[in-house]
Order: sequence, then C-alpha cells, then structure tokens
Amino acid sequence: MKSTALRVSAPAKVNLALEVTGFLPDGYHALDTVFAWLELADELELEPAPATRLQIESGTEGGLEVPEGEGNLVLQAARALEQEVGRELPTLLRLRRRIPAGAGLGGGSADAAAALLGLIRLHRLPLGPRELLPLAARLGSDVAFGLMGGACRGRGRGERLQPLPPPPDMPVVLLFPGYGLPTREVYRAWDGLPPAYRHPGAGSARRVSGALREGRLPPSALGNDLEAGAEALVPELAELRRAMEEAGCRAARLCGSGSALFGLVEGADPDAVARRLRGRGDVLVTRFRRQGR
Ligand code: C5P
Repeated sequence: MKSTALRVSAPAKVNLALEVTGFLPDGYHALDTVFAWLELADELELEPAPATRLQIESGTEGGLEVPEGEGNLVLQAARALEQEVGRELPTLLRLRRRIPAGAGLGGGSADAAAALLGLIRLHRLPLGPRELLPLAARLGSDVAFGLMGGACRGRGRGERLQPLPPPPDMPVVLLFPGYGLPTREVYRAWDGLPPAYRHPGAGSARRVSGALREGRLPPSALGNDLEAGAEALVPELAELRRAMEEAGCRAARLCGSGSALFGLVEGADPDAVARRLRGRGDVLVTRFRRQGR
C-alpha cells in the first residue's frame, strides 16, 4: 500500500543571545533573544487515522520525562488547531525524538510547531505559518520560532519575531550533562539573584543581530542572562562552560534556560573537541541549519 505519511522536521534551537528585559503583565519574563536552528532535529510523521493519537519513538536522547498523553505539546498543538478550525483533524502522529528534553534546545516547542505545520498540510487547511503564530505563542514561548526557523530575533516571550540572516556555516558542539532543568526553576533562581548579577548577557541581542546582518558571528557577541540563574541552581554548569572553552570551543554558552551548553568551533577539529569533553556528559557535533521553513 502506498504510504500517505507526511514528514516534518523539528529542529533544535539555541539562543545565540538572551536578555531578560523586564516582566510582562502575565508575570512572564520579557525577553530580547536571538534564536538559531541546528541540524539536530526530531522528526514527525503524520498520516490520516480514525482518531488522533501520538506515538513516541525515543532514542538515547535522555533528559526530562516527556509525557506521551494529552500533556504532550504535540497533542496540545493538535487540540488547539482543532479548536481553531472547529472540527476534528484525526491523525496518527509519530514522533522520532533525538533532542534531549529539558535541555533548553526547544525540543517540545519544535515538535509542536512541526505538528501544526504537518496538520495544516495533511488536512489541506487554508492556513499559513503566519496565521498560526498567535496560536503557536499560546502553546509555548518557543513554538512561534519553530514555525519560522532559520534565525530570528524574538521579543516579548520570544514570540514577536523578526527574521535575521542565518549564522555562518560552522560546527556547533553540544554538551548535555545528563539531566534536564525545568525552565520555571531557572527563572525563579534568576529572580532571586541580586540585580547586579542578573545580566551577564547584557547587549548580546543587539550585538548578535548586528553581526548576523554582516554575515558574521564573533564568539564574543554571544550572551545569555539565564546562565546566571541556571548556574546559581547548578554550579557545575559554570565549570562545564569553562571545560568546553578549554577543550577548544571559541565560546560556550547555555542553551536557553539549560541544561545543555553549546560551543562554537572555528579553526579546530570539532570531533577532537568533542572527544576531549567525553566523560562530562553526552557530546554531540552538529551545525547551524541555515535554511528556514
Ligand atoms: O514557556 P514555558 O512553558 O516553557 O515556560 C515554563 C515556565 O518558565 C513558565 O511557567 C514561567 O514560570 C517561566 N517563564 C518565564 N518567562 C518566560 C518563559 C518562561 O517566566 N519568558
């Protein structure tokens, strides 16, 4: 039988810049951030089915538990879209996971964005990615970026997006320490810091955006305010960041709210850098994914 399955890629993201600029009326933190897609990706397959169902095929990605039932962001995305269009969209969604959860790599958000795009294609709904942005933003802070991909500056909760040229092609080393970090706890730890310690990433969003527009990504442009919160929670993360730089990364930063770290590699063999980091956690060599949706 001919397969009618549709495949949608759900790439991981890193935040090349992340600044907390204040608070939003709903209590969330206001951000000025720069997202960039990686080649590392989950994959979602969709096909028509009698009822909507999610199957998860996990590999060795590790991290926090991912719910299989209605709590999964993929099913929440499907339900939200059904509400939006006012009818059921019965679909078998098969998710092949490669992105560790709770790592700050945006895996759950990427899966949800892929589900939205897959469902509109499979059911030939007259909606485009732009029309899905408000719904995506309600599902999670990083879902809107998953609809756009490539590189974007994000404001608000990260859902007010402005496309940027992608980073130059270069290897990116990821270090996953083997445990996930709940986003909420990292923000809470950040709130508890003295104000003078809260902004190690100050100015990074403007620096990175400017550099990308010139086709560059100097390691010194990167920054992430949430490192202060995550490292207050888990001091080992600061040590791992130094270990990555000692291993040959030009700069190493926290991915979003952590727990994973990413390092830029220039003028060195990324596999040799990765080998030096073995024993510190799961190490993976990937690249920026320069193509958006
Ligand atoms: O967006 P997500 O659901 O992953 O966020 C988890 C928690 O992290 C939120 O409930 C909130 O406490 C905190 N958060 C925040 N400001 C943001 C994003 C997340 O305070 N911009």
